[in-house]
Amino acid sequence: MDSKISSELLSDPAFVAPDPEKMVAHALEHGKRGDPTSILKSMDEYCWKYAKRSMNIGDAKGVILDSLFKERDPKVAIELGSFVGYSAVRMARFLKDGGKLYCLEINPEYAKLVEKLVDYAGLLDKICIIVGTSDEVIPTLKAKHGIDKLDFVFIDHMKALYKPDLISLIKNDLLAKGSVVVADNVIYPGAPEYLEYVRNEPLFKSTFFKSHLEYRPEVEDGLEKSVFLGK
Ligand SMILES: C[S@@+](CC[C@H](N)C(=O)[O-])C[C@H]1O[C@@H](n2cnc3c(N)ncnc32)[C@H](O)[C@@H]1O
Repeated sequence: MDSKISSELLSDPAFVAPDPEKMVAHALEHGKRGDPTSILKSMDEYCWKYAKRSMNIGDAKGVILDSLFKERDPKVAIELGSFVGYSAVRMARFLKDGGKLYCLEINPEYAKLVEKLVDYAGLLDKICIIVGTSDEVIPTLKAKHGIDKLDFVFIDHMKALYKPDLISLIKNDLLAKGSVVVADNVIYPGAPEYLEYVRNEPLFKSTFFKSHLEYRPEVEDGLEKSVFLGK
């Protein structure tokens, strides 16, 4: 991993998770096996109580993500940045039979927690975990992972990579007319270059959904939904 990117990520207080292993252990102890909703509830309880700086999308923006995901009803989806799998569980529970969510995560320790959590939620068959960096993995998605087009993309990794990775998805012919791209944390810590791009690029129609930072109602944040209009 690029050391500059890594230190930037780790030094941002909003993006340092207090204890990912404890969060997953809490979910396994208090959530019900095979019941994604109870697992998410137990993680939200943990985060509100113990881990106000956790970097999973949280319950407030989570319900917006739920509705955007259900509205698109994707067969093939990807998230860039999975952390311990909270947003993966949120989305995968709505996938129909045969649907797949690709979870791209740079940190192999986090990726193991994603597998543990998603397995406990009973959703492992709907998920494919890819360990690697987005800039290296995106160009391999077609040839190595057999993906033709992505119906839904959730961007939630390094803010500075939102725009170049979206452009890479387009260049690698992974978006189709009607593909929906949802980006988290566009206000805090903010992704101004990304917003400037999707709001002015004729290839997209973008809409902002206002909310607050995960488990911090005092900090404004939101999701940007961008529909790909096709080339
Ligand atoms: C905000 S967290 C993701 C939270 C998750 N989407 C959720 O809501 O539950 C960001 C994650 O992106 C990962 N990450 C950072 N840069 C990345 C990159 N270039 N490629 C893949 N993953 C990356 C980090 O390790 C971290 O786990």
